[in-house]
Amino acid sequence: MAISKNVKLPHLFYGGDYNPEQWPEEVWKDDMRLMKKAGVNIVSIGIFSWAALQPGPDKYDFAWMDRLMDLLAENGIMADLATATASPPAWLARLHPESLPVDENGARYAQGSRQHYCPNSKAFRLYGQRLVRMLAERYKDHPALAMWHINNEYACHISRCFCDECTLEFRNWLQKRYGTLDELNARWGTNFWSQKYYEWEEIGLPGKTPTYANPGQQLDYMRFMSDSLLDAYLGEYRILREITPELPIMTNLMGAHKPLDQFEWAKHMDVITWDSYPEPTGGIPVFAAMQHDLMRGLKGGQPFILMEQVTSQVNWRQQNPLKRPGVMRLWSYQTVAHGGDGVMFFQWRQSKAGAEKFHGAMVTHTGDENSRVYREVEQLGLELQRLDALIESRVEAQVAIVFDWHNWWALELDSKPSRDVLYLEQVKQYYKALFEHNVGVDFVQPDADLSGYKLVLAPALYMVAPGVQANLESFVQGGGTLLTTFFSGIVDENDRLHLGGYPAPLRKVLGICVEEFDPMLPGQTNGIAVEGLGEADGQYSCSLWADLIKLEGARSLASFTSDFFAGSPAVTEHAFGKGRAYYVGTQAEAAFTKSLIGRILADLELQAPLQAPEGVELTVRRAADGERYVFALNHNAAAAQLTLPEGAYTDLLSGSSFNGSLELAANGVVILQRQG
Ligand code: GLA
Ligand code: ZN
Repeated sequence: MAISKNVKLPHLFYGGDYNPEQWPEEVWKDDMRLMKKAGVNIVSIGIFSWAALQPGPDKYDFAWMDRLMDLLAENGIMADLATATASPPAWLARLHPESLPVDENGARYAQGSRQHYCPNSKAFRLYGQRLVRMLAERYKDHPALAMWHINNEYACHISRCFCDECTLEFRNWLQKRYGTLDELNARWGTNFWSQKYYEWEEIGLPGKTPTYANPGQQLDYMRFMSDSLLDAYLGEYRILREITPELPIMTNLMGAHKPLDQFEWAKHMDVITWDSYPEPTGGIPVFAAMQHDLMRGLKGGQPFILMEQVTSQVNWRQQNPLKRPGVMRLWSYQTVAHGGDGVMFFQWRQSKAGAEKFHGAMVTHTGDENSRVYREVEQLGLELQRLDALIESRVEAQVAIVFDWHNWWALELDSKPSRDVLYLEQVKQYYKALFEHNVGVDFVQPDADLSGYKLVLAPALYMVAPGVQANLESFVQGGGTLLTTFFSGIVDENDRLHLGGYPAPLRKVLGICVEEFDPMLPGQTNGIAVEGLGEADGQYSCSLWADLIKLEGARSLASFTSDFFAGSPAVTEHAFGKGRAYYVGTQAEAAFTKSLIGRILADLELQAPLQAPEGVELTVRRAADGERYVFALNHNAAAAQLTLPEGAYTDLLSGSSFNGSLELAANGVVILQRQG
C-alpha cells in the first residue's frame, strides 16, 4: 500500500505525539494555532489514552476524543489515531492482576508506569480489542482519521514474560512448530544434560536456571516472545483491517531493537515507522543512518516515517544535553536522505507533570512560539513543504548488508567462545566503512533476492539457516561480490553446529577452512600484514578474534603478525563462478576495514555521487519519473567544499543554482537536482 495514496497529506508527514488529555481544553485552541504556524499536518493521538477513554470495565468516555477529532479536522490536521493499548488502566490490573507481566524470578510487575501487560494475557487482549473495535467503529468515517497506530513501541520495556499464560502458550507454539516431542528433542539436542522431554507439560520457559538453559530452548523462547507480541498486535490489526480496509495500519518500531523480528512484523505493517534518539553528543550519527537504512529495508525499500525524535533533549539518559542549534534540522534531513517520507517528534507540548516532564517537545515549557526550539521546529516544517517531489522516491543502493534477527539472538546466547562478539558492533563496523565512502546501503534478509546488488556484506553471520548457503553461492556464482567475517556459518536455525570444519556451509564459496579460532582477551591485540591490496598495504592491529585459516582455493590478502600462527592468513579472497568472496578472520582496526571496503568498491566501480570532504554525508533518492536528488549533509563544525559532477544543479531547499562546486555551511544541507 503506497502510503501517500491512502493518506491524503499534501506534503511529507510533519507533526508529533499529541497528548491533549494532559491539558485543559482552552490550551487545545492554541495548540491548533501553533501547529498550523509550524506546518504540522499530522499528529499521533490517543497513544496513552486508555484510562481517559475507559474509566471502568463497562464505562467509556469518547466525548473528549470526539471534540479533539473535530478540532483537528476543522484545522486541517490529520490524526494518526492510536489504539490506546500501550498502557492499560489501573482497573485492569485491579480486576485482572494476572494481566501484569512476570519476570524471570517469578515476580509480577506493578501497575503505575506503562507497558505493564503480558502479551499473552487473555484479559489484556479481550479488553484491549473491545476498545479498539469501539474506536474503529466510532471514527471510521471521520475526516481527520488518516491512519492507525497500534499500541506503542512493543517490547520497549517488557520483552519477556514468564507467567503461567505464557508457559501454556509456549507449549502450543512449540507443538505447532515441531509437531512431535521427538522432533523437538532433536532440535534442542536434549540428550545433553538429561534434558529429554517425554510430555509437553514438562516443558517450561527458560527463566531462572542453575546455569545455562538449553540454547535451542532459549532461542525458541525469543522467537516465541516476538511472535506473542506480534500476535497481540495482530489481534488489534484484524479488527482495524475489517472496519477500515483502506486505512494504513502500523506500529512504531525502535530501529535495531533486539526483541522483535522486525522483518516478520513488517509483513503486517502498511508502512514502517520508527523512533530515533541518537546520542546528542555522539558525533556524526552513523548509527542513526544505519537504522534508517535498516528500517527502510524492512519493506524492501519502501519509504518509512520517522514517528518520533526529540527536538532537543530527552529525560532518560544519565545527563541530557541539548541539541545545538541546527542539529535537529540536520538530523531530520538525514532521515529524509535515507528514505524517510516524514519527520515527527515525541511530543507536541512538553508535559506539566509525569515522568516525561523534562523530555523535550515542539512547544516547550515556555508554552509559546518564542523559544529557540519552536523557531527551529517552524523553520523545518515550512521547509519540508518544498520537498513534495521526494515523496515516494527510493534511495539508490547497489550494496546490501545481510541482517537477521534470529542470527542476532543465536549469536548472543550465553556459553560462546567469546562474550564480546556482539552482532550490532560487527555490523556497525562495516556499515561505517560504507558510510564513509558515501555509497548507498540496503539491509536485506539472508534469503533475500540479491540479484540487484553488486556487493553483499554478511558480517558475523553465525547462523546459516536452510536455503542461505545456496542463496549466497548463487549470488557469487552469478557475478556478485560477497564479504563475510569470523564466526560465520557456524550453526543451523536451532543453534546446532554445522559439522565438517568451520564455516561448513560457506567453505565452498569462500575457498577456506577454519580449523580453530582463538578469541582474544580484553586489551589483547595481534597484527595483520596486508600485501597485494594496493593502497591498503601495510600493518594494522587487530583484536577480539583470530581464525586459523587454511586456504582451499582462496588467496591470502593479509596474514597475522604474531603468536604461534604468525604468517597464517587473516583475510582472504576467493574467485568463485563469475564473482568473488572475501573473508575477514579477525576484527581489524577501522582504517583497514575502510581501505578494504574502498578497494572492493573501486573494483566494482561503485562511487559516491559527488566529491566531498570527510564528515559530509551523501545519499541519492530517485523518483518514479527517474529524477535523481542528491542529498549532501555537512556534519562538520566548519563549512565544506563540494565538487559537483558536470552540469548545473538546483538546491530544492534554497532554490539556488550551482555549477562546478559549492560551499556547504556547518550543519548545512542541500538537496540537488540536475537542471534540464
Ligand atoms: C519512546 C516512547 C514515547 C516517549 C519517548 C521518550 O519513544 O514511544 O512515548 O516515552 O520514548 O523519548
Ligand atoms: Zn505472560
